[in-house]
Amino acid sequence: MTTLADLQVSSLGPSRYDSPLGSYVAGRKTNEYYVSEDDRVLYDDTISLLEQRGEPVERWPSFEPGGPRARIFHDPATTHVGVVTCGGLCPGLNDVIRAVTLELYTHYGVTRVTGFRNGYAGLVPELGFEPVTLTPGLVGSINERGGTILGTSRGAQDPVVIVDRLVELEINALIVIGGDGSMHGAHRIVEEIAARGLEIGVVGVPKTIDNDIPHIGQSFGFATAFAEAAKAITAAHVEAESAENGVGLVKVMGRHAGFIACYSALANHDADFVLIPEVPFSIDGENGLLRSLERRVKEHGSAVIVLAEGAGQEHVDATGKSDASGNSRLGDIATIVREAIEADFRDRGEPLTLKFLEPGYGIRAVPADASDSVYCARLAQVAVHAAMAGRTDMVVGRRRHRFVHVPIPLVIERRHSVSPDGDLWLSVLESTAQPLDMR
Ligand code: F6P
Repeated sequence: MTTLADLQVSSLGPSRYDSPLGSYVAGRKTNEYYVSEDDRVLYDDTISLLEQRGEPVERWPSFEPGGPRARIFHDPATTHVGVVTCGGLCPGLNDVIRAVTLELYTHYGVTRVTGFRNGYAGLVPELGFEPVTLTPGLVGSINERGGTILGTSRGAQDPVVIVDRLVELEINALIVIGGDGSMHGAHRIVEEIAARGLEIGVVGVPKTIDNDIPHIGQSFGFATAFAEAAKAITAAHVEAESAENGVGLVKVMGRHAGFIACYSALANHDADFVLIPEVPFSIDGENGLLRSLERRVKEHGSAVIVLAEGAGQEHVDATGKSDASGNSRLGDIATIVREAIEADFRDRGEPLTLKFLEPGYGIRAVPADASDSVYCARLAQVAVHAAMAGRTDMVVGRRRHRFVHVPIPLVIERRHSVSPDGDLWLSVLESTAQPLDMR
């Protein structure tokens, strides 16, 4: 159970300077739309959850709110901020880089902003990636393109070398835009900084199309990504319903979490089955996929299956391999499902038109949609405020509409996933034809 102590954000020290944004926040008090910097945002949001804790108000777990402070830790006149994008692509990376740069220049008057290229590799001098000076002119319209102008890579680098580089370049705050693995890396950098007693902050902007980072609400780029995936489901539906015994099989990303599969399936209600890593399913048996599919095709003439890449790993031989981020390489569930369906229709002497669609990287290489762009910009602004206020070892997030600071140790301690007991999965069951339990 998350406690108040778990939610305490680290700071480099007391604020020393008046913030150029002081006038923006002066006199603002907590209201329905704003949380003052002295207030806290509650972790639990139901009466029964709070009652279960049985604790007095002052011990209720709560987050530090995000947003500008009246006073800050770093002197804007001398502050140098580094920015790095790490891990797989995600819509909105360029929006975050852009908004960080603009916020620093425009509101704080910070004119030393450096982008490190190709992930943490860009902080390792011997790898030879020259840093980029980020200016409002350079970032002007980068949000119109997908990807990241800084480049990215997977994999950890030696925190000792990274901190040496930060010291050499006189960086005061590093903004890390990355996922779970990158935040592990960020935490190791924080530990190295602390061991040397340095005043360098590390602030994360969590990034993942899989939406699997806990505590932060929805991650940026996720909505754009699932909207792209939904297009493939629509196409699969059109193909399937235009053929005799048409079956559309759509494989979407989602290594350990089925959020993309669930949301893209819910986006247009075209899916009949949604298979995700969190909910095991059988291929054979009365409630299994094959018999359920047979019934659905008999009733409707066609069916669409949305398959997260990490679903049904119990049916696949483990590869025993992992990528540079330490993520295990998954077995190919799509081929197993596809071959099982083809064999089943063949054995029953039924015709089958099976179309396999895999939107793949197409869902994450696109620019952010308007809603995600807004979200990216706001997250970036909150990250800059936190960095200038001397916060460290934390990420920004928007939880139940409140921008909050979340300690990195808390976000790397587990993965966020679709709860089989939650309302999202219930909606999926309500919107599809699949049995409550497909085992
Ligand atoms: O972690 C996000 C993600 O999009 C996963 O869903 C997917 O398995 C993975 O990245 C693939 O990324 P890459 O091929 O770049 O390692």
